[in-house]
Amino acid sequence: MKFFRRYTPLQIAVHLYAWSSLVWALFQLLTNSLPENPAQELERQTGRHALALLALALSCTPLHFIFKIPELLKRRRALGLYALLFAALHILLFVHLENSLAWSRLAQTLKEKPYILVGAAAFLMLLPMGVTSFDVWKIRLGKNWKRLHQIVYFAAPLVVVHFFWSEKLDALHSVNDALRLWIYGLVVAALLLLRAPSIRRRAAAFSAQTLTRRFKKKTHPKADST
Ligand code: HEM
Repeated sequence: MKFFRRYTPLQIAVHLYAWSSLVWALFQLLTNSLPENPAQELERQTGRHALALLALALSCTPLHFIFKIPELLKRRRALGLYALLFAALHILLFVHLENSLAWSRLAQTLKEKPYILVGAAAFLMLLPMGVTSFDVWKIRLGKNWKRLHQIVYFAAPLVVVHFFWSEKLDALHSVNDALRLWIYGLVVAALLLLRAPSIRRRAAAFSAQTLTRRFKKKTHPKADST
């Protein structure tokens, strides 16, 4: 019981969701249910999970504007750090897959798979955000902290471009892959749009109106029926 008093349901959900991907990967490894090339499959799974966590981290602020749940803002850091962790695992698996990669062949690989550069750029943008996400850095950097963390507006679309491009080049087009790709793309685009000041103001006004209406209904139930 002490556990549930210490952690909120949302906090527990965030941690469970983040680790679920590793548990699933472990289960697949133990039951031998991974496809022919397990490292490649895990590389894809970690990449997708990193993107999903990044999208969730991005969604906290707009959802808070609409639903006015302050706790959402507190969960951004964990979600962002998990996204970074899974992106790092994704890169480690790539390095493992390409362990025959000699420096002399690097230029050739990048020529064949230029989307890797886009992924690397996104990772390099996410890295300083992760490192400075702690309170001590927030105090140290002052106003620049917010500026630095606005890099996410560039990093998230870059990850989507990396995803689109890798799918296109590797010709992985099953209906599921294509659908997943579009869903991620549209969700990230919508989340970024929701941060535009004019749209944000409208969302805030909409939520304020809805809350006032609900409040009036509760306090004067008859007033609404006229
Ligand atoms: C140095 C940085 C990176 C490298 C070298 C890299 C490498 C790769 C490679 C080789 C693929 C193609 C996998 C395949 O189809 O076999 C891929 C796909 C992908 N990567 Fe990355 N990546 C990097 C950064 C990132 C980051 C930062 C993210 C997310 C935050 C990410 C998310 C994805 C996603 C979602 C896919 C598509 C997975 C799928 O096919 O379902 N990548 N990456």
